[in-house]
Amino acid sequence: MNRFETIANNLAEQIRSGHIPVGTKLPSLRQIISQYGVSQTTVFRAYYLLEQWGLVRAEERAGYFVAPGATLGATPATNNREDSPKKVDISDLVFSVLESTRHPDIVPFGSAFPSPKLFPSARLLKSLVAGTRSLSPWSTVEDLPGSDHLRQQIGLRYIGTGFAVGADEIIVTNGALEALNLCLMAVTRPGDVVAVEAPGFYAALQAIERLDLRAVEIPVDPVTGLDLDALRSSLEQHPIKACWFMPNFQNPTGTSLTMEKKRTLVEMLREKQVPLIEDDVYQELHFSRERPLPAKAFDTAGLVMHCSSFSKTLAPGYRIGWAAAGRFADKVRRLKLMTTLSACIPAQAGLADYLQHGGYDRHLRSLRSSFQAQLEQMEEALRKWLPDDIKWTRPDGGYMLWLQLPQSIRAMELHSRAIERGVSIAPGPLFSLRHSFQNCVRLNFGHPWDARYERAVKIFADILDDPSVHD
Ligand SMILES: Cc1ncc(COP(=O)(O)O)c(C=O)c1O
Repeated sequence: MNRFETIANNLAEQIRSGHIPVGTKLPSLRQIISQYGVSQTTVFRAYYLLEQWGLVRAEERAGYFVAPGATLGATPATNNREDSPKKVDISDLVFSVLESTRHPDIVPFGSAFPSPKLFPSARLLKSLVAGTRSLSPWSTVEDLPGSDHLRQQIGLRYIGTGFAVGADEIIVTNGALEALNLCLMAVTRPGDVVAVEAPGFYAALQAIERLDLRAVEIPVDPVTGLDLDALRSSLEQHPIKACWFMPNFQNPTGTSLTMEKKRTLVEMLREKQVPLIEDDVYQELHFSRERPLPAKAFDTAGLVMHCSSFSKTLAPGYRIGWAAAGRFADKVRRLKLMTTLSACIPAQAGLADYLQHGGYDRHLRSLRSSFQAQLEQMEEALRKWLPDDIKWTRPDGGYMLWLQLPQSIRAMELHSRAIERGVSIAPGPLFSLRHSFQNCVRLNFGHPWDARYERAVKIFADILDDPSVHD
C-alpha cells in the first residue's frame, strides 16, 4: 500500500467507526505532514481518495470535513481494508497504456508478448499446410467446438508433465483469454465476488468489469507468491464464488508457488467448494529442468479449470488456447458454442500437426535458453545503469521482471515520460483494482538483446532522476 492510501485508510476507519463524527474538520495538512512525515502531495492524495469514497467533502478555504452519511450504515472498519469486494473500473487505464506501447519504434519493455523472431514460423507454416491438407471437409462441422487431434495432443502434454487430463475435459478456445473468460462466465453471475491477485493480470480485472462482478484482491509477494493466509481470511469474510490465480510465473511478478502451496491452495478451495480458474500461460517457459506442475495436478474434485495457450510459446497469431475445465467442462463447452462456436479449424489442424511432428520440445528448449540469456543481459544493464536501491526478484521462468522503485516514484508519470523518449514500460497501477503499486513497473525481457535495448535501460534510468516522476 502507498503512503497516501495508508493515511486514507487510517482516517476512513476512524470515520466509519464514528470516532471522527460527521461535520468534524479533518486534521490540517501541517498536522498530517508532521504526524506521518510525508509530503504535502501525499496528504492531498489521501484526502482526495477520502473524497472519492464519499467520506469527506472539501470546503473552500476552510479545509476538509467528514461528509454527512459517512458513518451511517457504515460497514465494519475492516471492510475498508484492501480486501473488501469492489466493482472494477480498469479498462480505460489499460487501453490507454497498451495503445501507447504498440508503435513498432517504441522499445517494448511494456509489452506482454515475446519477440515473434523467436518462434519457428517456417516450420509452423509447413504444419499448417500439412494439417489443413489432411482435414476432412466434414471436420469443420463435426469437430465443433474443438479438433479431436489437437485435444489429444494437448492431453499428451499433460501426461508429459506427470498427470492426466481427459481429452473430453478440454475445450479449445481463441487463446487463453477466451478460455479464462468462459470459465469465469461458467461459475459466476452478475454481482458475485471473485478473488484475484494483487498485483495481478489486468485482463482478469477487465473480465470482472465486463461481467459486472466484484473483485477482492489477495496480495502476492514477489518472492513467496500468493498470500494463502489472506486468501483463507477472505474466504471466511466474503461470499467468494471463484478465484482467478496464476500459480506458475505469475504476471506481473514472475513468482511461482511451491508444490506444497499449490496443494494447500487446492485443498483450501475444495473445503469451501470454490472453483479455481488457473491461468498457466507461462508454464512451458521454466528455467529449471522440470516443467512445474499446475495446481490442477492436485485437484481431485474437478474444481480447477486449467487455462493455457500457444500464444507465449509458439504462435500468438493463431489464437489457439484451451481450458481443461474439470466438472465445469460441459458448461464451458456450451458457452463456447454460444459465443464463438469454434476456434479457427485450420489453425487447430496446423498446431496439432506441429505438436505431433514439429519438434515442439526442441523449440521450447531453445526458447527458454534465449529468455534466460536475455534475462541476464537485462539484469546486467539494470545493475549498470540503475541506482543500487532498486529491487527486483529474479524469476525462474517467463519473460517478465517486476521492479520495485523508490516509494516516491509515480509509475504513471514514469510511463508517460518513457513513452515520450521511445520506451514503453508497464506501470504498476495497471495491475490492481485500486491502481496501487505506484512505485512498481513490469519490464519484458522476451526480445533478443541489442544496443537499442541497452540504450532504453539507460533512458529509463535517466527518467528516474526526473523530478516530475516523483511525489
Ligand atoms: C498472464 C496472461 N494470461 C493470459 C493471456 C492471454 O493469452 P492469449 O494470448 O493466449 O489469449 C496473457 C496475454 O497477454 C497473459 O499475459
